[in-house]
Amino acid sequence: MDFLGSWKRTNYCGNFSKEDVGKEVILTGWVFRRRDHGGIIFIDLRDRQGIIQIVFDPTYDRISHEKAESIRLEYVIAVKGLIRRRPEGTENPDLKTGEIEVLVKELKILSESQPLPFSLEAQELQKVSESIRMKYRYLDMRSDKMKESLIFRHRATRLIREYLNEEGFLEIETPMLTKSTPEGARDFLVPSRLNPGCFFALPQSPQLFKQILMVGGVDKYYQIVRCFRDEDLRADRQPEFTQVDIEMSFINEVDIMNLIENMLSKLFYELLDIQIKTPLTVISYDDAMSQFGTDAPDIRFDLKIQDITECVKNSQFKVFSDTINAGGIISGINLKNLPLSRKDLDELVETSKELGAKGLLWVKIQPEGWQSPASKFITEEEKKAIEKKLNANTGDILIFVADKKKITLFVLGKIRLLLGKRYNLFDENTFQLLWVTNFPLFEYDEDENRIVSVHHPFTMPNDADIALLDSNPLAVKAKAYDIVLNGTEIGGGSLRIYNMKLQQKIFDILGLSKEDATSKFGFFLEALNFGAPPHGGIALGLDRLIALMLKRDSIRDVIAFPKTQKGTCPLTEAPSFVDENQLRELYIKRVLPRQ
Ligand code: AMO
Ligand code: AMP
Repeated sequence: MDFLGSWKRTNYCGNFSKEDVGKEVILTGWVFRRRDHGGIIFIDLRDRQGIIQIVFDPTYDRISHEKAESIRLEYVIAVKGLIRRRPEGTENPDLKTGEIEVLVKELKILSESQPLPFSLEAQELQKVSESIRMKYRYLDMRSDKMKESLIFRHRATRLIREYLNEEGFLEIETPMLTKSTPEGARDFLVPSRLNPGCFFALPQSPQLFKQILMVGGVDKYYQIVRCFRDEDLRADRQPEFTQVDIEMSFINEVDIMNLIENMLSKLFYELLDIQIKTPLTVISYDDAMSQFGTDAPDIRFDLKIQDITECVKNSQFKVFSDTINAGGIISGINLKNLPLSRKDLDELVETSKELGAKGLLWVKIQPEGWQSPASKFITEEEKKAIEKKLNANTGDILIFVADKKKITLFVLGKIRLLLGKRYNLFDENTFQLLWVTNFPLFEYDEDENRIVSVHHPFTMPNDADIALLDSNPLAVKAKAYDIVLNGTEIGGGSLRIYNMKLQQKIFDILGLSKEDATSKFGFFLEALNFGAPPHGGIALGLDRLIALMLKRDSIRDVIAFPKTQKGTCPLTEAPSFVDENQLRELYIKRVLPRQ
């Protein structure tokens, strides 16, 4: 094995071009491909920036050619050589450096590699299971796709920092070992050795600290910060993830929305050459729910949900009348001329049941009238009213769900997304951003039988609704906003309460006693008593934003060392059992037996 010694690489492999022909260079990198052509050995040498072909010709340098015979894939080597044009007809147009190659006159083998557990060729890598790729993340990372993710993410965070610095924000770090924060997920706890029986919580977000920074007069804060939430994982959820966290003083909702719109416009323009049309569409929470069945609508395609309860309020059809009598609603979607066969419609009925509906009613409007399992139960007058409401014409297909409002909208919202994808109703390459505003301040938690905050308890109610806090708290709207990209929530925030009296009232409504509030966030409430400025902020989910911009299926693909769906790390095999001694030092007793 050789040492690099005084050799210094001239440039990255991927950065050379035909301008460099004739130059003596030093290259370092990994052996990506190796071909032995009748005595001449060709190697594709790879580093972070790309690939270049290097050539070992025994008639040019016998010693390095001989040495090159022992080289295997993913060996790390350094070569000295001459950049030359490739012979005519052997250029590779798929490669940035495809017009040139390096004729080697000296070789150093710096590091050997065992045969890899999987190939790094793109088509082969696709077939490798994600947990294997995660176990060997350092190999996976050598692939173009992961490299692209990491480089793109770096460029994005750099642009975000540049933008916010320019706007006068201070980047400030907040503690990782802290007290439970109110984002509504379960905390990850860390035992304190020095304080037996006490635990830190890892922050679910820097929410309280960023508000305290405002009380401290920081005025404009940001942080690209890791957050920790112990929740059930999905493709767009990780137990630790990154937020672009922002808070500002003396501002209103529009200031924050403008800031984020401009920041995202810059990102899309600089990174993807896409011009975002601003100001972005704004939709109220109520409209989002009633038209799209979700608070994070994908507006790349239409298929809006419409409420037809009014059209069938006197209906004799039992499905409708029972629903109305039970306080539910009937809503539908006009699928227009989507080519759904009878079988497809029957499948849709099954899907609706899997999603929690009791059923789904379909209608095909034929020239001779309605074709539908319920045609004979619905009067001509009702049919006319429904058609008018759904703007339906002959040839259209309509679908309806009758149930509790929550279920009806949820099921139709899911079916809308499913049909949008199945029938390619939108261009995969478009990006649709929108704001959802006017969220309710509270919602009723059926499981816990009590009122809870939709966002967190520090969210400011709408001025006009403050009078409703006593009489009808569930009707109070909040000064909160979410930003949605292609149907995924990529950020959310609000203006905050900065008046202790109002804050106390909110706690009362939430059923949080003074003692509870004090023990949970007394430090924060105290701060509000010492001259808190009006303030508000937002946090963007950086992993989600990057994954969507890069069209990756999962945020795991844009995180260097992600966790699996089960919250484990195949590379380090964390979480793992720890030594009894370590536990004893922390005053912790293991109750579960070792498996
Ligand atoms: P919120 O809880 O809405 O707001 O979080 C902000 C954004 O963070 C992203 N996000 C996640 N990304 C990956 N994995 C997760 N488990 C995960 N959870 C959330 C989402 C979300 O929109 N402190 C408030 C912000 C504020 O009020 O200023 C907060 O954390 O994209
Ligand atoms: P039934 O009277 O139960 O045979 O239902 C007649 C039609 O209405 C069938 O096509 C069912 O799928 C549909 N249906 C049943 N329950 C519901 C519901 N809650 N919402 C919408 N359609 C329903």
